[in-house]
Amino acid sequence: MSGQGTWLVTGAAGFIGSNFVHLALGERWCGRVVAFDALTYAGNLGNLERWTADRERFDFVRGDVADPDAVGRVFAEYEPSAVVHFAAESHVDRSIEDPAPFLHTNVTGTQVVLGAAREAPGAPRMLHVSTDEVYGSLPLDSTERFHEQRPYDPRSPYAASKAGADFLVRAAHHTHGQDVVITNCSNNYGPYQFPEKLIPLAIMNLLRGEQVPVYGDGLNVRDWIHVEDHCRAVRACLERGRSGETYCIGADNEQPNIEVVRALLPLLGRGELAIRFVRDRPGHDRRYAIDASKIRRETGWAPRIAWKEGLADTVRWYRENPEWLASVRSGEFLSYYERLYGGQ
Ligand SMILES: NC(=O)c1ccc[n+]([C@@H]2O[C@H](COP(=O)([O-])OP(=O)(O)OC[C@H]3O[C@@H](n4cnc5c(N)ncnc54)[C@H](O)[C@@H]3O)[C@@H](O)[C@H]2O)c1
Repeated sequence: MSGQGTWLVTGAAGFIGSNFVHLALGERWCGRVVAFDALTYAGNLGNLERWTADRERFDFVRGDVADPDAVGRVFAEYEPSAVVHFAAESHVDRSIEDPAPFLHTNVTGTQVVLGAAREAPGAPRMLHVSTDEVYGSLPLDSTERFHEQRPYDPRSPYAASKAGADFLVRAAHHTHGQDVVITNCSNNYGPYQFPEKLIPLAIMNLLRGEQVPVYGDGLNVRDWIHVEDHCRAVRACLERGRSGETYCIGADNEQPNIEVVRALLPLLGRGELAIRFVRDRPGHDRRYAIDASKIRRETGWAPRIAWKEGLADTVRWYRENPEWLASVRSGEFLSYYERLYGGQ
């Protein structure tokens, strides 16, 4: 599969999807990428700017994964040899405000892509990108970690919608023998992440001389992985994962939120006064941690990027790309799409 064929990447203009496309084309994991994305507030075609002129190897289609006609047309036109499904509504706070778009994109959208992949010529493998949040929350005072056999216990509308999607993907394998693989990854950080999530929000505020809001007591623990390590894990599962299997992805890097912010302060020349504790998120999961031994054992994947270096590189990237931050905040990036694909 590697090096040739067309990979359909949904949600490719978002944070992880765009990093995946950069690696897939930059390192020639496949012959061509078709990026399919609705360009919601979180999707920015500017994230893929370096590829838009390369019409041989890259194409972009704007569309909604929950729209069977739009998805069907992409499969018919490009005949992908593999599908990597990133498209989702991804922010827990927004799902608490309004779960409807989460059901639309994460549940219905996944079912539509799944059905289209199954019916397409050659029934290409679909890799469904999911989250560790489907497993619920772990106590702070335990060494227990999430693994593939753990029962699902989603606790936010976001996690529930991703769990629903995962079950649909599992069911398609069980019912139809469809070639699918599911990955459940922990929290990602790195370039191109929309500044509503903790790390880019903190970097943006610290750069602007503002305070960083930290939920509750700041002791909620997340298991952080650099986005490129996640993308390489997705590729490993796409190419070497067993059909119908789930793989948990993590980099053995548990950090309380407050320590994440504290690690950023010296990188941005700020002190403890830049931290502001705010009222906790309702139902805020306490701790996530991943046991990634299955993917390591079965695919040979291992994370490459150490936390300290990864964080310093991430800060450098946001520092060097102030216009990116300004454009995603203003929504101005949509004009880039209009310029390139205005009539589409
Ligand atoms: N960010 C993380 O830490 C993390 C961790 C584990 C798993 N994941 C999963 O990885 C995937 C990507 O996450 P992300 O952080 O890059 O999200 P993101 O919000 O940055 O990007 C999502 C992308 O999907 C697109 N999209 C949304 N609705 C769509 C629709 N109806 N049709 C087509 N495209 C649509 C958006 O325009 C955007 O480009 C998601 O499935 C998420 O659940 C994320």
